[in-house]
Amino acid sequence: MIPLCIPEIRGNEWKYIKECLDTNWVSSAGSYVDKFEEDFLRYLNIKKAVVTVNGTAAIHLALKVLGIGEGDEVVVPSLTFISPVNAVRYVGADPVFVDVSRDTFVMDAEKIEKAITPNTKAILVVHIYGHPVDMDKIMDIAKKHNLYVIEDATESLGSLYKGKHTGTIGDVGCFSFNGNKLITTGAGGMLVTNNEEIGERVKYLSTQTKTLLDNGGFFHEEIGYNYRMPNILAAMGCAQLEKIDEYISIKRENALVYNKLLENTRGITIPAEREYARNVYWLYSIIIEDDFGITRDELINRLKERGVQTRPFFTPVHKMPPYMKCRHLDMTVTEELANKGINLPSSVGIKREEIEIICDIIKN
Ligand SMILES: Cc1ncc(COP(=O)(O)O)c(C=O)c1O
Repeated sequence: MIPLCIPEIRGNEWKYIKECLDTNWVSSAGSYVDKFEEDFLRYLNIKKAVVTVNGTAAIHLALKVLGIGEGDEVVVPSLTFISPVNAVRYVGADPVFVDVSRDTFVMDAEKIEKAITPNTKAILVVHIYGHPVDMDKIMDIAKKHNLYVIEDATESLGSLYKGKHTGTIGDVGCFSFNGNKLITTGAGGMLVTNNEEIGERVKYLSTQTKTLLDNGGFFHEEIGYNYRMPNILAAMGCAQLEKIDEYISIKRENALVYNKLLENTRGITIPAEREYARNVYWLYSIIIEDDFGITRDELINRLKERGVQTRPFFTPVHKMPPYMKCRHLDMTVTEELANKGINLPSSVGIKREEIEIICDIIKN
């Protein structure tokens, strides 16, 4: 069986986690929490990083800290994992769905302006499968209409937009360290920002808005959240982060192997890497065109029979019951990609021979 995307654990994970267990620092007050934040912000070259219990919590806090709430609209893609859209709902705001680009699979900056109304407060971009959204265009639109920009960079950690890390360009960036992500803490997330004030407030909100009284008791000025990451998981994050550059180059090399084996195959479109981007190819993805010979779902089944795990592209969020009544623009590309896109095995540890087997099955 060749899995879709499994973690790579071959660094200091055991050592750092053992240290937490040996010293009893298992919860959120341990030193690895601060270290993971420090290491992460240095890696991304950003001013503030706050760990969270998962990526969804980071997005929830991003919306919260920017004051987005009831009556506000947030522009989002529909071709995404549902988490960022759910977070929009957690704060009581309304998602407005826009279409994506066919070559990169991510939000089409050209189509955003039509979605903006006087109620729009933010653009929530999602760099799905690893390719960066065209951020200069997004930032220009945001400036023109006075909107916040939140980047859900959970699938694009390690991808660059004009040399800058995704997640560091908008007002706030969010990451997930779920088990299938480039680096993992089992479950976990991070919010990053260049605005120190926002960073401080997110830390405060994520730790139950706890302030210490002189006598050691707790005082809470407002409603907070228990969105902290425990030290054990932060320890794992530190170990994973030490390997990130190696993992990125392996993933990019693997994408090149896939590209070489699949390009010029009738009915297959390989993923783009626009001139502004370094794509980390978190999930290497192809489009099964009409002239391929069999449908995308038939291909998924044939690969499954041969022990290859794949996944169809996301079901568009505007097609799911909680969001069917939400406003959306034309969704032609989203709906086409949702029917034709497939994620191929993309673990850091996948062997070249396994990629060759997968491509042979596809071609045959
Ligand atoms: C695009 C996207 N956003 C958000 C999340 C949520 O992250 P988490 O599972 O850590 O809450 C995920 C994946 O899990 C994701 O793929």
